Amino acid sequence: MCGIVGYIGNDNGIEVVFNGLVRLEYRGYDSVGIGFKENGKIKTIKSVGRIQKSDVAPGMPNLEEKLKEDGKFKFSSHIVIGHTRWATHGAPNERNAHPHVSMSGRFAIVHNGIIENYYTLKKELESKGYKFASETDSEVIAHLIDYFYDSDFLEAVKKTLTKLNGAYSFLVISQKDDVLIGTKKGSPLCVGIGDNEIIISSDEMPFVDRTKKVIYLSDNELVVAQFNGKYDVKSFEGINIEKEIKEVPYDIEAITKGGYKHFMLKEIHEQSMTVKNTFISRVDHIDTMLRDNFPNLPRNINRVIYLGCGTSLYAGMVGMYITERYAHVPSRAEYASEFIYRDPVIFRNDVCIAVSQSGETADTKEALRIVKGKGAYISGIVNTVGSQIARLAGRGMYLHAGPEIGVASTKAFTSQIIAINLFNMLLIDNNSYKQEMINEMKKLPMKIGEVFDTEDYIKDITPEIAKYKSFLYLGRDINYPVALEGALKMKEIAYIHAEGYSSGEMKHGPIALVDENMLSVFIITGEKKIYQKTLNNLIEIKARKGNVLVITDNVGEVKKYLDNDDYVVRVPCTIPQLSPIINIIPLQLLAYYVADYLGREIDKPRNLAKSVTVE
Ligand code: AGP
Ligand code: GLU
Repeated sequence: MCGIVGYIGNDNGIEVVFNGLVRLEYRGYDSVGIGFKENGKIKTIKSVGRIQKSDVAPGMPNLEEKLKEDGKFKFSSHIVIGHTRWATHGAPNERNAHPHVSMSGRFAIVHNGIIENYYTLKKELESKGYKFASETDSEVIAHLIDYFYDSDFLEAVKKTLTKLNGAYSFLVISQKDDVLIGTKKGSPLCVGIGDNEIIISSDEMPFVDRTKKVIYLSDNELVVAQFNGKYDVKSFEGINIEKEIKEVPYDIEAITKGGYKHFMLKEIHEQSMTVKNTFISRVDHIDTMLRDNFPNLPRNINRVIYLGCGTSLYAGMVGMYITERYAHVPSRAEYASEFIYRDPVIFRNDVCIAVSQSGETADTKEALRIVKGKGAYISGIVNTVGSQIARLAGRGMYLHAGPEIGVASTKAFTSQIIAINLFNMLLIDNNSYKQEMINEMKKLPMKIGEVFDTEDYIKDITPEIAKYKSFLYLGRDINYPVALEGALKMKEIAYIHAEGYSSGEMKHGPIALVDENMLSVFIITGEKKIYQKTLNNLIEIKARKGNVLVITDNVGEVKKYLDNDDYVVRVPCTIPQLSPIINIIPLQLLAYYVADYLGREIDKPRNLAKSVTVE
């Protein structure tokens, strides 16, 4: 969940690691720290809360103030490690912040993940006289390396690796040795190869402005980096491994705010372009393209199972409706976090698709591993190129939506729905279906542009909307997942209770909640049959004097049933399979403006992290 970054080279590594941490902060942000060598000793500087001074109220702790004097870094070092934490073991305080230093002061580590057997290891080390300074699981790594050290740093790290269970990546520096070691098992780690320098980090963002040359480590691999840009990749057993050097698939501009107040707002606005990026290179040669992406798809598919968490699962749920209705193949969408615990029955001609923005989500990865083990056809719909889920799946589609930095997912969701539609075209042997889908996809960027015509209205009504204590988001059929996703956005960034419900279920219970403190948010678009039934549910709420906000492509009809103090957002009409893309955008904007009005930390909401790399 956290971000780790390490530097070895000729520049001031403190500055490189500090800037890298700022870019990795979306991964975890309850505390932060760096460790470096100074005058032959390892020094650490830690802080609770945020990295940059500008991100906190005056007088509140931050790392920047501890590192700088008169705007300049007061320390300099050529071997540096840093960590931005999302606590799993031990409260987020300075004591538990990383790096953790061995009792002897000889080694310092930063760790991402969980050491599952830390308790046993801790007891063993304590019985050998080691004293622990923190409550974290991670600290055992530093003491173990120290325990095994007998003049050979790498050997000590290798011996430590044989003792650790769990998912982790960690970086370690040594007081005596001029190397930086990184190891990976479960959590992500990549190596940026610069001019006479190496940067090792959780993703490419810390080094994309210094080098685009990258190596993605696989599980059970470690890297030993030295000065002058030298490095060796080895297995945990110490066998040398030749790794392919790849190119980072984006530029520094992709990870800046580009004039927007928040990454989330930028990413919401990017959707005309990102949606297009997902389909444009694919639609004109759809059959060959899809066969390349999903080779050897079984002929008689038993079921299509979409696996994911959070927003990605909701995209998978949209997929479930598309697969059943249009491809006539049984389908389900499963919370990966539930799926992995129930020994699911899986058949060889089940097609399992892991849906994930980050490609790192531990539950989704584990679900994929399970279905792979049971012999099903597996694939991935993933945004992050080279990520663990992408590699495990080995086939599928990248979204090409660019890095998503706001913790609340927006553009990934809409691109996932495009990718899922493209995949389903492979199952549907009907040219007119495909042609209509392609035509509608091509119109989408323009229609998304039209949705932004409603942005000023949404901004204007925000002060009134922000007064509600609770929201019920209601949608039916393919727009039921949109209700779930709209509610998730409101919860995540505005911290207001919001629930997504299928509109037909509303009268079976939630209707009891209707009062002046709750706003019902309806999604009423598309086919008459579905549209009419949802409208009936709206009328039921109105009969109980509930207030409503409606997203609709049929304002004329809906308005007949509304009062003056209800809210209507008009969206353009499209085919049902693409309607979730259009309909979610006003709901993303609504959550964004309410959160901004309430002064929330939009890009880094409390308690959340962008990549949930623990189960
Ligand atoms: C989205 O706003 C959430 N932060 C979260 O639900 C997210 O979608 C989920 O953790 C899955 O992440 P992934 O797409 O990277 O696998
Ligand atoms: N388990 C470690 C801790 O709680 C690392 C968590 C992380 O990956 O941020 O400190």
